[in-house]
Amino acid sequence: MALYSEKVMDHFRNPRNVGIIEDANAVGEVGNAKCGDIMKMYMKIEDDIVKDVKFETFGCGSAIASSSMATELIKGQPLSEVKKLTNEAVAEALDGLPGYKMHCSVLAEEAIKSALDNYYENQN
Ligand code: FES
Repeated sequence: MALYSEKVMDHFRNPRNVGIIEDANAVGEVGNAKCGDIMKMYMKIEDDIVKDVKFETFGCGSAIASSSMATELIKGQPLSEVKKLTNEAVAEALDGLPGYKMHCSVLAEEAIKSALDNYYENQN
């Protein structure tokens, strides 16, 4: 059996929503101290909906695929749904990740949470 699913390979080779959003109103950056990978997430939120989302990931293939899938899952979604997104849901949408690569999907969940924290801070 292949180590990585077709979906992981597809999102790794053709990641969706790569880049930055100049006028983002939610930006989050997280890193994993063990592997040194870094993920940055930009969102444009309007009326509590994620109108646009982009990411930059300096990291492994699973981290790139996880960021890509996570952005697809939250684009156009209300914040109430975005808050509920877990790394397990990201990995599941990718048809699974090897156990020792699950932490890469955690980075995606954390990057989104970090961007949301930044959004709420900006509101005050
Ligand atoms: Fe670091 Fe995948 S090995 S995020």
